[in-house]
Amino acid sequence: MDKTSVTSDFFVIKALEDGVNVIGLTRGTDTRFHHSEKLDKGEVMIAQFTEHTSAVKVRGKAIIQTSHGQIENE
Ligand code: TRP
Repeated sequence: MDKTSVTSDFFVIKALEDGVNVIGLTRGTDTRFHHSEKLDKGEVMIAQFTEHTSAVKVRGKAIIQTSHGQIENE
């Protein structure tokens, strides 16, 4: 796949409680956690999918905005 098409998407995460975890998962055949970022209430993270990151797991109450829309988890 064209590298730029998989690495250009941004997403925004706004923590609605303390201790929200944004976990980056590796791109490629080996899918594992490679980075965990902790956000406190009101903190916002703006990030991109990259050569190293193909998936993101969000634990905790947060608003998540992507090009596919917005979702709020519990
Ligand atoms: N070093 C990581 C990367 O370039 C940083 C990163 C980008 C990241 N997007 C992320 C970490 C999303 C966690 C979640 O891929």
